[in-house]
Amino acid sequence: MNEVYEKLQKCAAAVRAKTDFRPEVALVLGSGLGEYARNMDVKAQIAYSEIEGFPVSTVAGHDGRFLFGYVRGVPVVLMKGRVHFYEGYDMTDVVMPVRIMGLLGADKLILTNAAGGVNQDFAPGDLMMITDHISTFIKSPLIGPNVEELGTRFPDMSHVYDPELCEKIRQAAGRTGIKIREGIYLQCTGPNYETPAEIRMIRTLGADAVGMSTVCEAIAARHMGMRVCGISCITNMAAGILDQPLNHREVQETADRVKDSFERLITEVIVSLAPQRKP
Ligand code: HPA
Repeated sequence: MNEVYEKLQKCAAAVRAKTDFRPEVALVLGSGLGEYARNMDVKAQIAYSEIEGFPVSTVAGHDGRFLFGYVRGVPVVLMKGRVHFYEGYDMTDVVMPVRIMGLLGADKLILTNAAGGVNQDFAPGDLMMITDHISTFIKSPLIGPNVEELGTRFPDMSHVYDPELCEKIRQAAGRTGIKIREGIYLQCTGPNYETPAEIRMIRTLGADAVGMSTVCEAIAARHMGMRVCGISCITNMAAGILDQPLNHREVQETADRVKDSFERLITEVIVSLAPQRKP
């Protein structure tokens, strides 16, 4: 069997041994958004460290666990703390948690992140729905023998961010009165922030926001047929736009400042994605 798939099956089985919860929607929480679980009726929790062979996140503010439960009756699995490529893991490990959520039954995935604003019309605190991405500067998580059990060798990436889910995000934003921007997200490896020259290049390439996650997860999820959508919290203007150095504290502070409206939007999106309700 394919080595990656074998490891994935083992970890998925370890999760299933702890809970038989069947999620419909999967949600990945970005920096500063880790308190979303307070909006959920939590039925089970599994720390990544309880799953043998599972990559364990090391970033401050990412405590690393799956939470299973209901958001207004919708069965959800949530990743509190993701694994980043800059921590030193192989890309196949970075995307393993997302793949596991897919194997557990979640066919829709909401990705969230903190991102630097490249588009100069943006301001810190803006929320941006991701309409497309640029993966050129990271290693594809699909490199290596193809995992045929998950998907095809050369998957189409024409509509990574599902147009129907995107429309539901627009409508959810409208209903909640939350302003939402739209744009293209580019993933760099990190962990260093970009230089002003890199940000000028990234803008020239057509990106509106830049970050250190999400794109690899979106690719892996699309490969296995999950329907994907994503929202970035613009936590800071990217390097060189303002005359001030970037730091993780600013990222956390801005994410913290907008977390109430971000959480309300996410809840509204989840409800609109899943007609299924707890009996
Ligand atoms: N660059 C990269 N990643 C980020 C940024 C940034 O400016 N802000 C939050 N995550």
